[in-house]
Amino acid sequence: MNLYEWKENYSVDIKSIDADHQGIFKIINQLFNAMSHGKAKETLAEFLAQLVDYTKTHFKREEMYFLATNYPDTVEHKLQHEFFFEKIERFKKQFESGDQQITVELIKFLSDWLVNHILISDKKYMSHLKKFKVE
Ligand SMILES: [Fe+2]
Repeated sequence: MNLYEWKENYSVDIKSIDADHQGIFKIINQLFNAMSHGKAKETLAEFLAQLVDYTKTHFKREEMYFLATNYPDTVEHKLQHEFFFEKIERFKKQFESGDQQITVELIKFLSDWLVNHILISDKKYMSHLKKFKVE
């Protein structure tokens, strides 16, 4: 079962970014499925590494587009990306220090953050990037 689905209204109408976002939902679903099967503990470290890796690439792509098009809200947007990594770093430390119960909290944070970030901050750059024909 996929609990956290990418939906059409999440589209920012930029192919590469929509594909990235879909990929992040996929990773969240993998964790959710592992949790449903009682396997979250074993897979969490690997999951976090994969998530950081994937989002790093995605944020870099967005920031590269911002730079190339001189996006006016770049600083504010980048701060949100940094906040995301700080929060993930905290989850990681919590997990490493023996707290094995963070999965539900983590999934909730990830899906809330992602949906809010897409619907508010990412939608904001949509028309700007479209003007520069970013795909
Ligand atoms: Fe973003």
